[in-house]
Amino acid sequence: MKSVKVTGYGGVDKLQVFTHDIPKPKEGEVLIKVKACAINNTEIWMREGAYGSGAKSGWRPEGVTFPRTPGSDITGVVQKVGQAVDEDLIGQNVILYPLTSSGEVGQEHIAEDMAFIGSEYDGGYAEYVVWPAELCFAMPLDDYVESAVFPVSGLTAWHMAEQLNILPGQTIMVTGANGGVGTFNVQIASKVFGAKVIAIVGDLALADRLKSLGATRVLSYKSDKLAEEIITVNGGPIDGVLDVVGDALFSVSLEVLKKGGKFCTSGSAGGQQTTLDFRTLYLKHIALYGSVLGTRDEFQKLLDAVREGKIKPVIDRTYPLEEAGSAQTYFKQNGKMGKIVLIP
Ligand SMILES: NC(=O)c1ccc[n+]([C@@H]2O[C@H](COP(=O)([O-])OP(=O)(O)OC[C@H]3O[C@@H](n4cnc5c(N)ncnc54)[C@H](OP(=O)(O)O)[C@@H]3O)[C@@H](O)[C@H]2O)c1
Repeated sequence: MKSVKVTGYGGVDKLQVFTHDIPKPKEGEVLIKVKACAINNTEIWMREGAYGSGAKSGWRPEGVTFPRTPGSDITGVVQKVGQAVDEDLIGQNVILYPLTSSGEVGQEHIAEDMAFIGSEYDGGYAEYVVWPAELCFAMPLDDYVESAVFPVSGLTAWHMAEQLNILPGQTIMVTGANGGVGTFNVQIASKVFGAKVIAIVGDLALADRLKSLGATRVLSYKSDKLAEEIITVNGGPIDGVLDVVGDALFSVSLEVLKKGGKFCTSGSAGGQQTTLDFRTLYLKHIALYGSVLGTRDEFQKLLDAVREGKIKPVIDRTYPLEEAGSAQTYFKQNGKMGKIVLIP
């Protein structure tokens, strides 16, 4: 089989094509023929060593063991089963819940031993992957590429909306609204939770597409009056912020939140560090939430909402597996709309 592996921390030249044996599923595992694998920022930061400083950057304190096959948004078809797995699974189309954990139900994503496919395990930049059978769910759509966009970004977005406990009619600002996570934040906040969504993008040429996903208003972060515009279009301060941008829009977010408003972050595409005047937080009673991925139950709810047509895949473009380096380079550009998918 072929796979693309990261050979060490560094640039895209650290992504190399390998040919090796197909892995064997162990007890409780299945072998999946990968049909599509969407890209996430996490595997780019894993390669760049951006999760920490020095030689041990990764999701876990011990860092990543190289060579490692990245890729955590995987769909495919079950080819073989290991011991103690029902043979009826062979031939089924599946989508992978992307993490293992000993955490109790509802706490899987925050267990200390949480480990992630594509970082602690070999992932989907490959023709085959092995994964626990109990973490393989039925694919939500007929198409492998369309289904592959949901796991990491969709699960993250769903969990963020749950954390803010969004209520129908509330106004929620979504930053990075044209990105992988943002396109799901727009859809989930509006179409599942019933919120009015103010979507923030760079290029207003994307406004109609964001409105078709459920945004009520679309504004550009390039405006120097963004905070004023948000308050004007909403007729007052807003209820919550679903953020993946970090520093670049943090002060605007705090400015436009109402007293008792809630801010949830799951990313920092526009700057990892910021400054904070504590008085803003306590005088406005603002609650800050940090968010990574989500639970198995949330994953199932996400897939159900996809099946019901409430959440649609948004795909910017696809690449063949061997062009993973070009795909990751493209991922880092501004102005994309939705997800990038690799096809083995
Ligand atoms: N915690 C988790 O579970 C989790 C899961 C998935 C992703 N993430 C994180 O979430 C972030 C976004 O991921 P993604 O997959 O959505 O990435 P993406 O598809 O590349 O989208 C990034 C978004 O951020 C916007 N952006 C970038 N720089 C900006 C700036 N200076 N000011 C305002 N907006 C800016 C982009 O807008 P333009 O294109 O218009 O410039 C784009 O909408 C990343 O930090 C990623 O690591 C976290």
